[in-house]
Amino acid sequence: MADYILEANNLSYTYPDGTQALKELCLKIPRGQKTAILGSNGAGKSTLFLHLNGILKPKSGTVKFNGKDVAYGRKSLLELRKNVGIVFQDPDSQLFSASVYQEISFGPLNLGLAEKTVRGRVEQAMTATGINELKDKPTHMLSYGQKKRVTIADILAMEPQVLICDEPTAWLDPKHAKQTLQLFDEISQNGTTVILSTHDVDLAYSWADYVFIVSDGRVIGEGTPDKVFSDDNLIRIADLEKPWLVDVYDLLVKKGFLAVNTDLPRNKEDLYNLMLKK
Ligand SMILES: Nc1ncnc2c1ncn2[C@@H]1O[C@H](COP(=O)(O)OP(=O)(O)OP(=O)(O)O)[C@@H](O)[C@H]1O
Ligand SMILES: [Mg+2]
Repeated sequence: MADYILEANNLSYTYPDGTQALKELCLKIPRGQKTAILGSNGAGKSTLFLHLNGILKPKSGTVKFNGKDVAYGRKSLLELRKNVGIVFQDPDSQLFSASVYQEISFGPLNLGLAEKTVRGRVEQAMTATGINELKDKPTHMLSYGQKKRVTIADILAMEPQVLICDEPTAWLDPKHAKQTLQLFDEISQNGTTVILSTHDVDLAYSWADYVFIVSDGRVIGEGTPDKVFSDDNLIRIADLEKPWLVDVYDLLVKKGFLAVNTDLPRNKEDLYNLMLKK
């Protein structure tokens, strides 16, 4: 099996109005890694995602899934979308069924699964996203954050090999944002490759195993979070900021409160432990 579950090779895409959103973009998503695509507004993250499950077809360049070029015939696309599930940035563009239950069962029913299996998957997905109590509610009556959780459940119920989530925490309150990221950790531990896009540097830094920085339609940097966020120049060029933890860490090292060669803390608890050890 290929080491990279998804690859984009020299991907270029221009929207019908002439906006060149992707410019020979290259990236290889390592299988099983929690991956964050980080970039400022308009960098090309959503456009890239729409290519990763064949919703958009590149003007030039290729997308590979499991080492094979994506084909754009109906059957191949259905197969790709079964394996690569996308939670859209705007939940309204994903939801179309009457009730939450119907909405989440639509995908698995379409896969031709038995009704009992579908029920099991839908209930599991609703529990995982904490929306059991919304089961019979019409989707158009939900709050935006609730809609977002329903769209995540939608894709979970498909049990894809890759779960892509465009701005997963936008519109979620802190409690549900944290729960969603924990859910992604669990899914990742069960072998699914989880890819998310964000402009939240703190989120990318603390959650991801591997980070790609996208700017103006290109990947301009990649690596483990500590490598990427130690590169001041890269962060500046991408119009991003350093995660607050890295900022505080840098200051504590500069002021002599921490030794220079300690590992960068990934979360608040790591930082407290470093300070207590000192
Ligand atoms: N349907 C469209 N028609 C024309 N231009 C578009 C369309 N969708 C996106 N664009 C343009 O393509 C570029 C990339 O947009 P994209 O939505 O991929 O960025 P993004 O990184 O997802 O941004 P954000 O963080 O705001 O979600 C932007 O310049 C945007 O204006
Ligand atoms: Mg976007």
